[in-house]
Amino acid sequence: MKNALVLGGGGFIGGHLAKRLKEEGFYVKIVDIKPNHEFWSHDVICDDYLQGDLRDPRVVEQAFENKFSNNYHEVYQLAADMGGAGYIFTGENDANVMHNSALINLNVVHECVKNKVGRVFYSSSACMYPEHNQQDPNNPNCEESSAYPANPDSEYGWEKLFSERLFLAFNRNYKLSVRVGRFHNIFGEFGTWVGGKEKAPAAMCRKAAETDAGGTIEVWGDGHQTRSFLHVTECVEAVLRFMRQDSFMGPVNIGSEEMVTINQLALMAIQLSGKNIKINNIGGQEFVDKYGFSCPVGVKGRNSDNKLYKDKMGWEVSIPLLEGMKTTFTWINEQVKLQTK
Ligand code: NAD
Ligand code: GDD
Repeated sequence: MKNALVLGGGGFIGGHLAKRLKEEGFYVKIVDIKPNHEFWSHDVICDDYLQGDLRDPRVVEQAFENKFSNNYHEVYQLAADMGGAGYIFTGENDANVMHNSALINLNVVHECVKNKVGRVFYSSSACMYPEHNQQDPNNPNCEESSAYPANPDSEYGWEKLFSERLFLAFNRNYKLSVRVGRFHNIFGEFGTWVGGKEKAPAAMCRKAAETDAGGTIEVWGDGHQTRSFLHVTECVEAVLRFMRQDSFMGPVNIGSEEMVTINQLALMAIQLSGKNIKINNIGGQEFVDKYGFSCPVGVKGRNSDNKLYKDKMGWEVSIPLLEGMKTTFTWINEQVKLQTK
């Protein structure tokens, strides 16, 4: 029986991935600091769920134990201290983000070698790309080869770059089979939608769902900053295809090339709500006065560049943003209703 270990499987992408692996017939073990997945029961996403802190090397040792002599065919390293712009760009969480995620990765990569795992996937981020290539909202450059000279705009991005290098170094020195994917803003159902760690698609859906007709929603910044968003089901498909080919280890972008402004994204959520809602772009001193920190906007433009993925994998993502936003809005709208009951 094929078996897989999903580290961070109590989270958004990890939960979707673990569910898919289980549906494929894998024996799936999840390890997460959370006691359970926020939305799914264990039997839907795994065969074994270990609650543990992967910053602790003893827990990581335990994480790799299974009834198959610890010999995992596939390991997915998704555990990280992460969140959207409101979490990683305020500066308040920089030390914890770097310390927590680096410790997890240092422990995990070492244990992968010790246990002779078949292959490990590491989830990096588009946040590792240099800030100077993402200043023009209409023409950002996120080609894989543009990573150096390095200049990420957040400590979260620097940690991702360090950990990419860590996994690649273990490949060179210990022959660990690795795959490094750089995720570009992944969104969808069963993800964080409230609380401060949510990303723009979930935030826009929540705000539109919570607001009465004739009301206004806040959108951070001037709304002209651009991003692309990949629905989580295609993210999982892209990860599995990448993981299961033998010739290319990355790093490679895993994202959508459908770039929109954040105001366009907000308008999509408003349209899906069917309500007449206006946008209030808030930034600068007004934002500082209201929230006590600078408006977390991040880079001015970002879009996935999928040439390399298409070349190597012969497959490309295709779900239009609006389609993914429809199912996401429906789900978040339900969560809002459940919360206000
Ligand atoms: P998520 O926060 O939902 O999942 C991460 C999981 O890691 C959480 O369940 C969390 O509890 C767990 N975790 C954190 N610290 C831990 C610890 N010390 N021990 C054990 N578990 C711990 O995030 P996600 O959106 O599912 O992202 C998964 C991975 O993909 C992360 O590495 C993230 O940095 C990366 N990524 C995500 C996006 C995105 O848009 N979602 C974009 C770029 C990169
Ligand atoms: N989160 C959020 N909430 N963002 C908002 C909001 C809001 O209410 N209003 C406007 N925005 C703007 C942010 O200021 C930012 O300019 C843009 O929407 C996108 O924000 P996020 O979706 O939160 O994050 P990001 O795209 O800057 O970074 C995300 O993607 C990276 C990969 O591309 C994060 O999830 C990172 O962790 C991830 O690595």
